This record gives sequence, C-alpha cells and structure tokens, in this order.
Amino acid sequence: MKIGCPKEIKPQEFRVGMTPNAAQEAVARGHEVIIETGAGLGSGFDNDAYVAAGARIVDTAEEVFATADMIVKVKEPQAIERKMLRAGQLLFTYLHLAPDPEQTHDLLASGCTAIAYETVTDSNGGLPLLAPMSEVAGRLAPQVGSWTLQKANGGRGVLMGGVPGVGPAKVVVIGGGVVGTHAAQVAAGMGADVTVLDRSLPRLRYLDDVFGGRFKNQYSTAGATAELIQSADMVIGAVLIPGAAAPKLITREQLSTMKPGAVLVDVAIDQGGCFETSKATTHADPIYEVDGIMHYCVANMPGAVARTSTIALGNATMPFMLALADKGWKQACQDDHHLLAGLNVHAGQLTYYAVGKALGIDVVSPAMVVKA
Ligand SMILES: NC(=O)c1ccc[n+]([C@@H]2O[C@H](COP(=O)([O-])OP(=O)(O)OC[C@H]3O[C@@H](n4cnc5c(N)ncnc54)[C@H](O)[C@@H]3O)[C@@H](O)[C@H]2O)c1
Repeated sequence: MKIGCPKEIKPQEFRVGMTPNAAQEAVARGHEVIIETGAGLGSGFDNDAYVAAGARIVDTAEEVFATADMIVKVKEPQAIERKMLRAGQLLFTYLHLAPDPEQTHDLLASGCTAIAYETVTDSNGGLPLLAPMSEVAGRLAPQVGSWTLQKANGGRGVLMGGVPGVGPAKVVVIGGGVVGTHAAQVAAGMGADVTVLDRSLPRLRYLDDVFGGRFKNQYSTAGATAELIQSADMVIGAVLIPGAAAPKLITREQLSTMKPGAVLVDVAIDQGGCFETSKATTHADPIYEVDGIMHYCVANMPGAVARTSTIALGNATMPFMLALADKGWKQACQDDHHLLAGLNVHAGQLTYYAVGKALGIDVVSPAMVVKA
C-alpha cells in the first residue's frame, strides 16, 4: 500500500501522523511511505530521519494526497485538504465529526473511507487512540500548574514539594480517570500532598489498590469539593461524562473561599470546562485571573510537548495503521471490531450512529458496509 503523511496545517499543530519508526515498520512490510517535506520538523524529526527509515519525501501535500492509498494524519482534514481526498482513498486520523457538519459533508462528498482515531475502542471499554493524549495532558497538568503557582505568574508562590521544614503544596484532582491518575502521579512525584476525587467507586477502589500510599482519594460530592478547595493550592479538573458537556464543579462564588493565588488547571476545557469561570486559552496566552484565582485552560495541552505527543500517538496508532496497510481496510475491520468502531464514513455513507444523531444524517451499519 502507498501510505502518505502530509504536514499538519491546522494552526498551532506541531504533531505529525507518522514517526520515522512507524514509517520504517511499514516499509519493512513492503509498503511505500510518502512524507511531505518538513512534516516531522515540529516534532523534531527531519527529512533525513524519514529517508533513513526508507520513506520518500515529496514537496507538496498535493503530491501526498494524489499518490497515497491511505492518508495518515493527526488533526481532522482542513477544507483545503478535504478537496484533495478522493473516492476509494482511506483516511486515518482524528475527525471529531459530531460538532462539525461542514467536514462531515465534505468527507461524504469525497467518497473516501474515513476511520476516526477517537472512536476506535479496546477490550477494556477504553478509547486506545485518545488515551495517549489524556496521559500527556494529565502528566503536563501539574507541570503547568506549578509554573502558574509561581509568584511572577500570579500564583501563591508555593513550591510543589515544599522543603525541609515547610510543607508541600496541596493539590486536588477532580476526576480519577486517565488524565486524573496521571496528574496525581506526577503531582505526588513532585512531592505535593494530593487528593483525587471521583464519582466511580470501582475507580476509587482501583486508585486505592494501586496508588494507596502515594495519594489519597475521596468520593466526589459537592460538599467534599467545597471543603477541599478551601485549603488547596492547585485544583486540576479532569472529569469526563462521555458524550456530555463537563459538569461545573466549582462556581464563581466558591472562588472567594479559596486561597488568593491558588491555581485552577481545567484539563476538561475541551468539553466546556468543569469550573464555572473557565474559558479556553491558547499556548500563546495560557493563563488568566478571576477573583484572585489563576486559571490555566489550554484546550490542546499535548501540543506543548509535540514530540512526546507524536511518539505516544504513533505508538498507539501504529498497530492499526499496519493492519490497515497489510490487509486493506475492509479485511482489517472484519478481523477487528475495535477498529471497525472507528469507521465513520465510507463511500458517501455515514457509518457512525452518534455522528448521524448529532447531525441528523442517515447512518448505514458499519457491519453491513464491511460485509458488502
Ligand atoms: N485539554 C486537553 O488538552 C485535554 C487532553 C486530553 C484530554 N482532555 C480531557 O480531559 C477530560 C478527562 O479525560 P480522561 O481521558 O481522563 O477521561 P476518563 O473517562 O478516563 O476519566 C474521567 C473521570 O471523571 C470521573 N467523573 C465523572 N464525573 C465526575 C464528578 N462529578 N466528580 C468526579 N469525577 C467525575 C469519571 O468517573 C472518570 O473516572 C476529558 O474532558 C478529555 O476530553 C483534555
């Protein structure tokens, strides 16, 4: 198969869909890999690294799209990229179609087959191609939060781990899923006093079993949150209710009960945020203050560490990418219902129910499409 990887063109996107290591694996299995010149630079991979892996560098995205049987990307194709997709071509990338009717209609019109990273599933009920970015955002949250806690950045001037004779920062993590667990691990590793709140008892049992000695956990109620935030130096918002906007768990009124200069890091901002005073910010201007409380609300946190994020995403996508290349999308989806769960669009038909429901478009069963 000819596998093409264009340079990402969405603003502030420095990741790339294929690492040189992934390219090398594909080439070793007899596939041809075509990379747009400079595609990997934002993640620290130059053209030479891809050439050494056996890939071919081409000058333009047009060439990649015109040549490849499968396009591997990171972000959803932008309007100019969607014009280059064609019938029979396979697209493997993040799509997030439900809130994006324009993209959905363009993909349907193109006749391509599109498999979305975010809807591929695994046998534990998880989303294996979303998890790496949650791991990155979770581990980054205490790092950016501790920077915001510094006096010059508007914070309380508290060191995460304290020093001998001075106690550590108090960190509250609301939501103990992928983001929350990784955030708590890093905050605890920095020496902070960490409490994780979650509403799922099985999750709390897991956290207690695995991390019992390293951070505390507590059942999440409005009362528990209200009490804990009064003494917190940092609160990390990491909740998710699948398919719904994030619940607002700290009101503006409650900010006055917190210590001046305390920090809110709202990782759930991509689902609307879980603090009433959260509004999305960018890496260029990530923090702002409301009623004396500092807020960090960057919606694409993994972009700050593009190299780590690219490699983490590549590790997760590579087995699926290789299966698609080796077998063709139809056979690969027949053999793996978790990959089939990623099928969103095929030959002008929508194949993902939640997207159809959100956009009022008829949906064809993916199982039917794959058997046809
Ligand atoms: N800003 C970014 O760059 C970025 C990056 C990755 C993920 N995210 C977002 O981070 C959020 C968390 O993602 P995740 O992968 O950890 O999800 P997850 O499903 O693994 O975990 C969410 C957790 O929240 C818990 N929860 C739900 N309601 C709660 C409540 N009221 N109180 C306490 N806990 C509650 C759930 O029980 C679950 O354990 C999502 O909104 C995700 O989109 C943002």
